[in-house]
Parts: sequence; structure tokens; C-alpha cells
Amino acid sequence: MASLNFFFFFFSTLFFAPSLATTSHYSSLNSTKTTCNATKHHHKWVAPTGYRLITVDASGSGEFLSVQGAVESVPENNTENVVIKINAGYYIEKVVVPATKPYITFQGAGREVTVIEWHDRAGDRGPNGQQLRTYKTASVTVLANYFSARNISFKNTAPAPMPGMEGWQAAAFRISGDKAYFSGCGFYGAQDTLCDDAGRHYFKECYIEGSIDFIFGNGRSMYKDCELHSVATRFGSIAAQDRRTPYERTGFAFVRCRVTGRGPLYVGRAMGQYSRVVYSYTYFDDVVAAGGWDDWDHTSNKNKTVFFGVYKCWGPGAAAVGGVSWARELDYESAHPFLVKSFVNGRHWIAPSDA
Ligand SMILES: *[C@@H]1O[C@H](CO)[C@@H](O)[C@H](O)[C@H]1NC(C)=O
Ligand SMILES: *[C@@H]1O[C@H](CO)[C@@H](O)[C@H](O)[C@H]1NC(C)=O
Ligand SMILES: *[C@@H]1O[C@H](CO)[C@@H](O)[C@H](O)[C@H]1NC(C)=O
Ligand SMILES: *[C@@H]1O[C@H](CO)[C@@H](O)[C@H](O)[C@H]1NC(C)=O
Ligand SMILES: *[C@@H]1O[C@H](CO)[C@@H](O)[C@H](O)[C@H]1NC(C)=O
Repeated sequence: MASLNFFFFFFSTLFFAPSLATTSHYSSLNSTKTTCNATKHHHKWVAPTGYRLITVDASGSGEFLSVQGAVESVPENNTENVVIKINAGYYIEKVVVPATKPYITFQGAGREVTVIEWHDRAGDRGPNGQQLRTYKTASVTVLANYFSARNISFKNTAPAPMPGMEGWQAAAFRISGDKAYFSGCGFYGAQDTLCDDAGRHYFKECYIEGSIDFIFGNGRSMYKDCELHSVATRFGSIAAQDRRTPYERTGFAFVRCRVTGRGPLYVGRAMGQYSRVVYSYTYFDDVVAAGGWDDWDHTSNKNKTVFFGVYKCWGPGAAAVGGVSWARELDYESAHPFLVKSFVNGRHWIAPSDA
């Protein structure tokens, strides 16, 4: 039930920053136990009031034919819970949820049957004649806080590049808003499928497919019970995390996921100097490259500053994930922060039944 998540908010007393994507609140905070300090920069959280349901149907039996049409009908500075119900169908369009429209849910009819897709690549030219670059390729971009999506897929259908080819990054989804929740969603692309850019995010039972750095960015995110599926042709990589200072609380925590597809594959790459990636209770198929992890550039000693960890992983590829000395096998105590939804402060915004 899509409104459950929001229902839970009514009992929350948490504060939030309206636009973490465009500010650097996180990077100015010290790394641990800063909840109290964090809130002093933030505005008081205002609960959404009211509820609105909008139906989108590609064959014409809803209020809108396109998802973007429905998003545009939501007023700026929205204060209602808005559920956009997207009936089964392919929606061939680019969608943006602007920062001024929080509390929107995309509710699909199932990730096999409701699909939003587009096909931009980083090297393509935008309306101004400039190359788009990776961040602007996303078929769906969400800049708003309190976004959620359920049972729907997002695709970028641009063809997959070979490793090293320039300008072929092609994102399916970019999340730059804070406190975003996804369940039962599919993300399909090749290079740079899911731009987990900024803010706190929770992905539950999602399917994420790609070839190179197919989850990337500086989000603070938990991926629980997800399948990470590689379609790499010669060499691939899953997560490129971009934490840049030791004071940021960002990182990707994968819990009880499954890694499948084609290898060889790095499970993590040090996009930022202080990159953080932890896999716990995760199954690895026999697709992991020797070494398991990559330091990105071999010149900036990122292998001394990153935090790459594994905890109780299993499967035929699990041994390779411990292949470099600077990726650690964690004990329970050091793994614990990456196992629980408090990694994303989820106690305040994720209902227990959604975690
Ligand atoms: C999403 O799909 C799952 C599996 O088909 C189903 O159990 C669940 O009720 C659906 N959730 C919503 C909110 O439609
Ligand atoms: C807090 O972070 C700032 C940088 O943002 C740093 O200069 C300072 O030393 C940190 N303080 C502690 C106690 O870690
Ligand atoms: C808040 O920050 C100050 C220094 O910036 C630090 O001494 C204090 O312990 C912090 N409080 C909490 C609750 O983290
Ligand atoms: C939305 O809020 C902003 C900031 O408070 C304000 O500048 C803007 O005019 C508002 N927009 C509308 C349509 O009310
Ligand atoms: C760490 O990376 C540097 C280059 O940045 C390299 O010279 C060194 O051998 C690496 N250390 C380990 C333990 O891999």
C-alpha cells in the first residue's frame, strides 16, 4: 500500500533539509553520531496533509497519457501525498520530478509490465548543442524529497558500450532527493544505470542491471534483498561510490543481495577518495574478478582511504571479493552500522513493514 510509507511520517518528528542535492550539508558534518548537530542546519519537517491519486494510462483510460503530464499537474510546493498510479504499459519519455514537488509516489502495476524508458547517452547533444554528460542522461530524474516508487521499471535502452568507449554512459534513473524509497523496482541499462547521487535512499527487493559502475554516486543508501545483475561484455563493475571526505556519512550498504550475470566483475570501485561500500550476507555468483575491488586510478592511494568491507557473504564468487588487502572482512561490530536501516536514519521515515 503506497500510502503506508507516508502514513508513518505523521508520527515522525524528524527534521529535514529541503534540498540536500544542491547543498553540501553532508560534507560539512562530522562523520558519526551527528544527528543532533545535523538537525540544527535543517528546517522543521512539515508532514504532508491530504492525499491525491492520479492515474496514468498509456492507452488513454487514465487522467494522463504520460507520466510527465501527471507530474506537471502536481502544484509547486506540494504538501499532499500524491500517488501517481501508472498502469501497465511502456512510457517512452523522459521524466523529471523537480525539487519543489515532494511526497510523490510512482505506483506501477508490476516491474515486468510498467516501464518508463528513454535512450540518451552522455555523448548525445542536448537542446543547447552541448553534450549531455552522464547525469543528464537519466530517463527518470528525481530531485524531490520523499519520493517513492513501487513495482515499476526504469530503463535506458541505449546500446551497451565496450569498456573504455567514451560518451556511452546512459543512466536509467537518477535520485538526488533525500529520503527516497523504492520497492519491487527494476533499473535497466548498461554503463551507469542507477545514479545514486545524493541523499538517503532505501531500495528493497529491486533488480538492478548494468555493465560498468552500474550503481554510482554519493548517496547514502541501503540495498536490501536486491539482485545486482551484470550484463558486462568484457569487464564490468557494480558499485562506484563517491564519498569524498572522511566526514561524509554516505556510502552503499548491500544487505542480503544476489550478484548474478556475466563477469569478470569488480564489486566496488573507489570513485571518491573515501568511497564506502559494504556487502553483507550477499550471494556472489562465479563472476567476480580476481582482486574483487578497484582503486579507480592507481595513482591517488585510494586503497589507503576507502572503506570497502564484506560480512558473511557466500556463493562461488565470495572468495574473490576478499581479493585485495585493503578490502576487509568485517566483524559483527564493524558490520552492524551497515546492516540496519538506521544507516539511512530509516527509523524515522521507513515503516517497519517496508524495511
Ligand atoms: C508489488 O508487487 C508485489 C509482487 O507482485 C505485490 O505482492 C505487492 O502487493 C505489490 N505492491 C504494490 C504496492 O502494488
Ligand atoms: C569536523 O569536520 C571538519 C571538516 O568539516 C573538520 O575540520 C573537523 O576537524 C572535524 N571535527 C572532528 C571532531 O572530527
Ligand atoms: C556536535 O558538534 C560538536 C562539535 O562540532 C561536538 O563537540 C558535539 O559532540 C556534537 N554533538 C553531537 C550530539 O554529535
Ligand atoms: C514555492 O515556494 C517558494 C519558496 O518558498 C516560493 O518562492 C515560490 O513562489 C513558491 N511557488 C508557488 C507556486 O507558490
Ligand atoms: C595502493 O595503491 C598504490 C598506488 O596508488 C600502489 O603503489 C600500492 O601498491 C597499493 N597498495 C596495495 C596494498 O595494493
